[in-house]
Amino acid sequence: MRGKNRDQLAPQNIDAEALPVQNQETFSIQKIINVFGADIHRDTLAKAERLGQVPQPQWKQTGSLKARRWTVDQLPAIGERFGFLPKLDGSQVICVFSMKGGVLKTTLSFNIARLAALHNLKVCVVGLDTQGDITKALSPEQENEDTDLATVATTARAESGLFDVLRGNVNVFDVLCDTDLPTLKFIRETPGLAKVDMELVSRPHREWWLKKNVIDPLKTRFDLVVLDCAPSWSTLISNALVAADLLVSPMETKISHFRNLDDFMAFLGDFERMMEIQPIKKVFVPTKYQSGRKLSSEIRSWYVQNIKGCTAGVIREAMVGEEAMSACKSLPEHAPTSSAASEMRDLMLDIFRALPTQTKTAAEVAA
Ligand SMILES: Nc1ncnc2c1ncn2[C@@H]1O[C@H](COP(=O)(O)OP(=O)(O)OP(=O)(O)O)[C@@H](O)[C@H]1O
Ligand SMILES: [Mg+2]
Repeated sequence: MRGKNRDQLAPQNIDAEALPVQNQETFSIQKIINVFGADIHRDTLAKAERLGQVPQPQWKQTGSLKARRWTVDQLPAIGERFGFLPKLDGSQVICVFSMKGGVLKTTLSFNIARLAALHNLKVCVVGLDTQGDITKALSPEQENEDTDLATVATTARAESGLFDVLRGNVNVFDVLCDTDLPTLKFIRETPGLAKVDMELVSRPHREWWLKKNVIDPLKTRFDLVVLDCAPSWSTLISNALVAADLLVSPMETKISHFRNLDDFMAFLGDFERMMEIQPIKKVFVPTKYQSGRKLSSEIRSWYVQNIKGCTAGVIREAMVGEEAMSACKSLPEHAPTSSAASEMRDLMLDIFRALPTQTKTAAEVAA
């Protein structure tokens, strides 16, 4: 019996969830279609598999039926063909920064990086926050509750990061860490990151160190570099801003953020003038939106009408968003059919529109 028929015999709900095969999460045809929000029939993906256009799946036996299951590392090759994001035109650097804490900077950095990597773009995340939130999200295996403190401390001390690159002990490519996606790497936030700022202060051209020694080399190997910044000003943040092709700045749809916005905009302008750089391209993303709250809706509308570069897309305040971060998954992977996932896909398109892209979507290019 050919694969297509076997899939057609499977009960309709069998593909609704990813089922574990040998303890590994796997993805059915339907889940893949949902993750990418792809407007295709399930037979299209099955046919692409039979034609060898996407990787070979495993076959999951359920009763007398068999169905295709792909592993997570196989998704980028499928996303390139059936995904929603366009290919980038040249290597790009996105800096995610806001002076305000807890406004979803790391959530945005993580979703941008993971979703781009799921579209077969080569992505590197550089964590620039000593809180280490993006490092935790990108290395879930380290979050083992049973690991004793001594082991955690020893491992942390042994890990190399930006400080070791700054000291000249290692090359930037030596500190790249792997993830479950072959297309996604990262530089972890080690304890030494706290010393980078102090060390940079006495160096000539201190604001350009990251660009020259980390970002420019990474751009030779990656399509996209994502910088997840801390919520406070530092020399490292200056370094991130001068290296950025695009600043993505989340703005809470809350009155406290609204009040501080003028200062933040003036600050960015002063920084650009002081550094004598061209104005950085900026995208502002309304976050923690609460559609049921009048003030939140009014602030969102004000942002859209008055802030140049404000996205139509938002991230709404949602439990499923928090859950996705806890599960170390992008929203579309964690809850593919949720409205929050759909909004995240739209938002990613808004952000990618601000970057130089190939005119066709990844799916059109691959077709
Ligand atoms: N859609 C959402 N709605 C509400 N909370 C969310 C949502 N998505 C993620 N969160 C949670 O909000 C918290 C803050 O998010 P995040 O860490 O991305 O903010 P941040 O701006 O990076 O914070 P910091 O300034 O400390 O670096 C996290 O616990 C995150 O899991
Ligand atoms: Mg953060």
